[in-house]
Amino acid sequence: MTNPITLAKDWKKQHDERPKELTLSFGEQDSTDILSYAGLEEQSDHLCIDGVYIRTLFISGYPFVASSGWLDTLINFNHDADISYHLHEVNALQALPQLNRKITELESTRRAMIKAGKIVGSEITDPLDSAMELRDKIQRGQEKLFQMSIYVSVRAESLAELNKTTKLLETTLSARLFYTKVARYQQLEALQSILPRAEDQLGQKRNLDSSSAALSFPFMSSELVQESGILYGVNKSNNSLVILDRFSLHNANSIVFAQSGSGKSYATKVEILRQLMQGTKVIVVDPEREYKLLTESVGGTYIKLSAKSDEKINPFDLTTTYRKRSDLAEHVQNLTEVISLMAEGLSASEKAALDKALLRLYEGSGRIQPVLSDLYHELKLAEESYASTCEFELKALNVRMFCFPSLHQH
Ligand SMILES: Nc1ncnc2c1ncn2[C@@H]1O[C@H](COP(=O)(O)OP(=O)(O)OP(=O)(O)O)[C@@H](O)[C@H]1O
Ligand SMILES: [Mg+2]
Repeated sequence: MTNPITLAKDWKKQHDERPKELTLSFGEQDSTDILSYAGLEEQSDHLCIDGVYIRTLFISGYPFVASSGWLDTLINFNHDADISYHLHEVNALQALPQLNRKITELESTRRAMIKAGKIVGSEITDPLDSAMELRDKIQRGQEKLFQMSIYVSVRAESLAELNKTTKLLETTLSARLFYTKVARYQQLEALQSILPRAEDQLGQKRNLDSSSAALSFPFMSSELVQESGILYGVNKSNNSLVILDRFSLHNANSIVFAQSGSGKSYATKVEILRQLMQGTKVIVVDPEREYKLLTESVGGTYIKLSAKSDEKINPFDLTTTYRKRSDLAEHVQNLTEVISLMAEGLSASEKAALDKALLRLYEGSGRIQPVLSDLYHELKLAEESYASTCEFELKALNVRMFCFPSLHQH
C-alpha cells in the first residue's frame, strides 16, 4: 500500500533523480505540497485530517433482489459523503470450477438437512438458486462475472456529527436491505480505496453477474412511460418505449428542428394521428397546404381562409369555447373588440349598446351559433324600443356594419 509517508519518499526520490540543472526547483512548492494536508490522525474507526472527521464504510450485505438505480439512495444521501465503487471482471473460466464447488457444497448441505428431517430455509435455497442460475448463464455466455466493492466515506466537523451521519447512512441503506460495516482498523486503506485511483485496498468484494452489476449504474436513463401519453419513439439507450403525455407537463409546447427532408412533417403528422386517437382536438395552421389529405382522411374540416373562399369563421360561434357562464362574458368582450375593429372604432356609448345587444342575443335566443345578421336584428329592435329614451347612437353603428356584408353568415 502507499501511505502518505511512502508517497513522500517516492516524491523525494523522483526529485533527487532529476537532472542537475533542474535542482534549483527543489525547495520550491509544487502542486502536491499545496494540495496535501499537514497531517492525519488515525483512529480505529475514523480519521481526523485537519480537523475534519472522516469515516469509511463498506457494503457488507447485498439484498437478494435489487431494483435498478438503487444507488440513487446513496447518491441522494443529503450529507457529505464520497462514494467509490470498484468493478473488476472475473475470468469466467476460472470462476466456473469455484462456482461448481460452491453449488456442490450447498447441494450436499441441503440433502443432509432433508435427510435429517430439517426444514431447508432460504439461507440455503437462495444462494443455491442464484449460484445455479449464474453458472448456467455464464456457460451459455449470457452473463459475465464481476467483483464489485462499494465504499462510502462520510465527513463531519465533529465526532458527534460523524456518528450521527454514519447512523443515518446505515439506516438509509438498511431500508433497502444493504448492510454496511465500518472498516475498523483499516481506515487508512479505506481512504486509499475511496480516492479516485482505482486501488481497492480494502478488498471487500462481492461476486455479481453483469445484469446485477449494471443495476448499480447510478445514472439510469429511466423509462419514460405515461399512461395517458402517446408513443414518441424508442429510447436508444435501453430500447424502452417513450410514451409521453405532453399535456401533463408544465408546458405542452414543443418545436421540431431538423434538416430539410429528414422527416419533420412526417413525424408531426404521425403525432397528430396518435393525438387524435387520444381524443385531442388538433388545429393545424397550414400555409403550405400540406395537411389537406390528412384532414380529409381523418374526417376533419379543411378551412381555406380567403376573401373568395366558401368557408368563413363565425366569430359568434360559441360551440367550442362555451363551458360556463363566465365564458360568455369573456366571449362578448372579445366580440365587442372584433366588431369595434370592423367598424373602425366605436364610441363608449356604441360599445355599451353593442354589449347589451350581444348579451340579449345569446340569452334571449338561447342559440350558440348566431350570425352577424342576428346581431343586426337585435340592434334594430333595441333602437326601435329605446330610440326615444336612450341617447345611444345606434344609427351610426348600423350604417357602418352594413359596410361589412361579407360577415353575414350562411
Ligand atoms: N419514419 C419514416 N418512415 C418512412 N418514411 C419517412 C419517415 N420519415 C420521413 N419519411 C419520408 O421522408 C420524406 C421526407 O420527409 P418530410 O417531408 O417529413 O421531411 P421534412 O423534414 O418535413 O422536410 P422539409 O424540411 O422539406 O419540410 C417523405 O417522403 C417522408 O414520407
Ligand atoms: Mg416538411
